[in-house]
Amino acid sequence: MAINLLLNFLLFLLTAKTGFSAEISKFVQTGASVQLDLQTQPLDLDDITWKNEKTEKVFKYNYELKKIRPFPPYQDRIEFNESSFSLTMKNMQKTDSGLYTVTITGASSIDIVDVYRVSVIDAVEAPVLTVNSNSSDSCTVNFTCKTQDLIINSSYQINACSPEKVISQKNYTLILSLHCSEESIICNYSNPVSWKEDKIDKQLCVKNNVNEAQDAQLSLEWLGFLAAPILIGIILAVWFYRKRTGSRNEDD
Ligand SMILES: *[C@@H]1O[C@H](CO)[C@@H](O)[C@H](O)[C@H]1NC(C)=O
Ligand SMILES: *[C@@H]1O[C@H](CO)[C@@H](O)[C@H](O)[C@H]1NC(C)=O
Ligand SMILES: *[C@@H]1O[C@H](CO)[C@@H](O)[C@H](O)[C@H]1NC(C)=O
Ligand SMILES: *[C@@H]1O[C@H](CO)[C@@H](O)[C@H](O)[C@H]1NC(C)=O
Ligand SMILES: *[C@@H]1O[C@H](CO)[C@@H](O)[C@H](O)[C@H]1NC(C)=O
Ligand SMILES: *[C@@H]1O[C@H](CO)[C@@H](O)[C@H](O)[C@H]1NC(C)=O
Repeated sequence: MAINLLLNFLLFLLTAKTGFSAEISKFVQTGASVQLDLQTQPLDLDDITWKNEKTEKVFKYNYELKKIRPFPPYQDRIEFNESSFSLTMKNMQKTDSGLYTVTITGASSIDIVDVYRVSVIDAVEAPVLTVNSNSSDSCTVNFTCKTQDLIINSSYQINACSPEKVISQKNYTLILSLHCSEESIICNYSNPVSWKEDKIDKQLCVKNNVNEAQDAQLSLEWLGFLAAPILIGIILAVWFYRKRTGSRNEDD
């Protein structure tokens, strides 16, 4: 009895470790494929059975007979890899979202069960960047990057903006992020399966600023470059003058 309990406990630990009922989340873009891998390679194997949330059979594989059997409506869009035992479902639609359960039956009486939460979602819509105001003198541009769920208001100054990131966490994570370079303002919108960006090129503003900055830097460099010899020249001149007038004074 005690040994039985111990054995059950050990088996429980073993199956817990192999991912028993641990839910694995998978995101897939509408129309794309999703590959579901076994979490552990089975040591001894009779059958692999995939079911969906409605406990309807999706796919069955018998190892001994090497028999592959997809069930409707999955017949034409399932691929099974007989060396890795991974299942690929193609052309996924939103109605295919839900829990998928794989049961691995072997000679040992304990079945291994993995659960996958498959979410079929659309690609993100493109974000829209709009300029709200320009002030030509200071080269400042206020702008907005907007999507259906998220918005960033920011300002482009001196060839830069502070990078920003806003996140919406509903059924999955949506990220709207902003970064600027000397050439452009870039707004990137992403979900777990896709990303899109909108961009504004800021060439005019950049050109002026860069030129001014370069001019300023150049004149400073020239100043430094010329100042040293001039200064040394002056010092030398003064020294020579002093020496000459000094020696003349001594002569007197
Ligand atoms: C099946 O899986 C093996 C091991 O992961 C891999 O090397 C092979 O390319 C896969 N075959 C196909 C047809 O995807
Ligand atoms: C701001 O300047 C940009 C480019 O110079 C221009 O496309 C945009 O229409 C201007 N926006 C406003 C609100 O003046
Ligand atoms: C840009 O926005 C800031 C803060 O909202 C505001 O103080 C500034 O006047 C705006 N600049 C322009 C050119 O509209
Ligand atoms: C962003 O700017 C727009 C236009 O200037 C304004 O209508 C909106 O309220 C601002 N939103 C936030 C979150 O600051
Ligand atoms: C979020 O998930 C719930 C339950 O899974 C679903 O009913 C709802 O439609 C989902 N919302 C979106 C925006 O996908
Ligand atoms: C946009 O964001 C996504 C996710 O955060 C990232 O994978 C992608 O590389 C980004 N695109 C660019 C052009 O930075």
